[in-house]
Amino acid sequence: MKIAILPGDGIGPEIVAQAAKVLEVLRRDGLKIEMEYGHIGGAGYDAAGDPFPKETEELARTCDAVLLGAVGGYQYDNLPRPMRPEQGLLRIRKGLGLFANLRPALVYPELVNSSTLKPELVSGLDIMILRELTGDIYFGQPRGIKTLENGERQGFDTMHYSESEIRRVAHVGFKSAMKRSKKLCSVDKANVLDTSMLWREIVTDVAREYSEVELSHMYVDNAAMQLVRAPKQFDVILTGNMFGDILSDEASMLTGSIGMLPSASLDENNKGLYEPCHGSAPDIAGQDVANPLATILSVAMMMRYTFSSETAAQRIEAAVRSVLRQGLRTADIFETGMQKTGCAAMGDAVVAAL
Ligand code: IPM
Ligand code: MG
Repeated sequence: MKIAILPGDGIGPEIVAQAAKVLEVLRRDGLKIEMEYGHIGGAGYDAAGDPFPKETEELARTCDAVLLGAVGGYQYDNLPRPMRPEQGLLRIRKGLGLFANLRPALVYPELVNSSTLKPELVSGLDIMILRELTGDIYFGQPRGIKTLENGERQGFDTMHYSESEIRRVAHVGFKSAMKRSKKLCSVDKANVLDTSMLWREIVTDVAREYSEVELSHMYVDNAAMQLVRAPKQFDVILTGNMFGDILSDEASMLTGSIGMLPSASLDENNKGLYEPCHGSAPDIAGQDVANPLATILSVAMMMRYTFSSETAAQRIEAAVRSVLRQGLRTADIFETGMQKTGCAAMGDAVVAAL
């Protein structure tokens, strides 16, 4: 198991260090794990003048999986766009063909009260958001800011999806639905966008190969509303890059904290990039208060999807549940009566539980 570790910026290094402890335990217990570190994001810019340096790209290509912390920081906010940390993330996703982004939103019984929604709405919630990750308005050309004839400037981006891009992610969606409760909701804006009309047509066509899966379609504005009105109606949500970006942040709050949400971004062969759904949180970086559980749970996803080790995945997930049962809480999920725990101590507790 060759794993590239890219801590990145902000709280990235702290949370990744905790996940690396977990990988160490798995190695001690017999998994053939090799880890190699590289720079990405602002850290890549600082080290090599590029948010996705050549060496990092090479490392990522030769490894089976990548574990990434987070990218971004105030000090990079005024760099020209190609040098911005986020470009490192977008380039590694695109460059490695990681088109299928799995973002599970799972409510742990211990955290039901951390959600901003009523416990009865979210208790037992288990949604899988599948976000297409290498197409859409994120990557469409042309884009830019031009000056019109009247001298006014105009910003523009291009949304597009090709049939094959829609088809391949739809297959991943139906396959995940088959492993879960066989319900798939495809989210689009087909009442306004041509891109979405094609999306809906192709998803409907792919559905014919999965007759056991119940397919529904929903407009994205309604989906945003339904997610806070009655989130348990969803099982797998399949959607494009930009809608998935927005809906997955929204869904994260159902679970109590975005600090709990892992993600996997997979290519055709299940090679994957694993990262927490949250960002680099520069405001709390270096203070040992970040929640490392999303990154640790990303390692569980890595074991499940890239290395097909369901045993290792479940072992990590059980250890996380166990520390929550013990009452350990980082600041983002803290409630009175629980034990306030720092980032490194939370990592150590997971290791002990393993
Ligand atoms: C995410 C993030 C990224 C995205 C940013 C940092 C480029 O918000 O992973 O959801 O928009 O995809
Ligand atoms: Mg996002």
